[in-house]
Amino acid sequence: MFKDSEHFESRKENYEMKGNSYYWRKLHSLLGVIPLGGFILVHALTNYQAFERGPEGFANGVHFINSLPIVPVLEIFGIYLPILFHGIYGLYMAYQSNLNSGQYTYSRNWAFTLQRITGVLTFIFVFWHVYQTRFQVYIGSVTHEELGSTMHQIATNPAFFVMYVVGVLAAVFHFSNGLWAFLISWGITISPRAQKVSSYICMVVFVLVSALFILSLVAFTGDEFKETASAALAWTNIG
Ligand code: HEM
Repeated sequence: MFKDSEHFESRKENYEMKGNSYYWRKLHSLLGVIPLGGFILVHALTNYQAFERGPEGFANGVHFINSLPIVPVLEIFGIYLPILFHGIYGLYMAYQSNLNSGQYTYSRNWAFTLQRITGVLTFIFVFWHVYQTRFQVYIGSVTHEELGSTMHQIATNPAFFVMYVVGVLAAVFHFSNGLWAFLISWGITISPRAQKVSSYICMVVFVLVSALFILSLVAFTGDEFKETASAALAWTNIG
């Protein structure tokens, strides 16, 4: 999964030779971990409260996050702008690297290729998912208190459930594999041994964070999250 660092580096140099966008690429790389990686971890833990503590635990988690000072500023500068930049610049880099793809065999580049595929999937998933959740709160269709039942509506729809599992796995793979690459490109894991150890750590991160999200998704299918569903049902878009 997280191998072939030499190859990654040569790809990276290939980009670097291309022009003067070195600092944009560094910013792209940094934003993928701080704040976006941090956001994924906090988001997984908040959602997991649904599994661990039921509707009340989940509601408390949502309430806690939304009671933080300057939430809109945090959302805009800590989530939305970084996602837009990371996603759009990432697509641009993926397009650029396509121009070189003939130089390398698929088998030696599969982690690199998967990183690009999951990047695109995650970008699409996040738009759709924010539309279904946060955006509905913004326009007043659901309240924060009703988000548990909103998620219940989503998770009990088999097609949405599958799309969520795919979206979550794509996002978490993209984050974990990206973290491994980040550690190399920032000079943190230099030796082959360090890169091997970090590949195991990143795999564990992938498994644990995926499990947190998927367990929460399963928890949301439970009848205990139905309670405020009648209110959420007024929102016909997800039914
Ligand atoms: C089982 C999986 C997931 C569940 C149950 C879930 C649930 C939610 C809920 C309920 C909200 C609204 C929070 C609020 O308004 O307070 C939300 C927002 C959001 N989610 Fe997820 N989510 C999941 C996976 C993901 C993944 C994998 C990503 C990718 C990074 C993601 C990205 C976002 C973003 C960007 C927001 C908007 C955050 C904000 O504006 O505060 N979610 N999610």
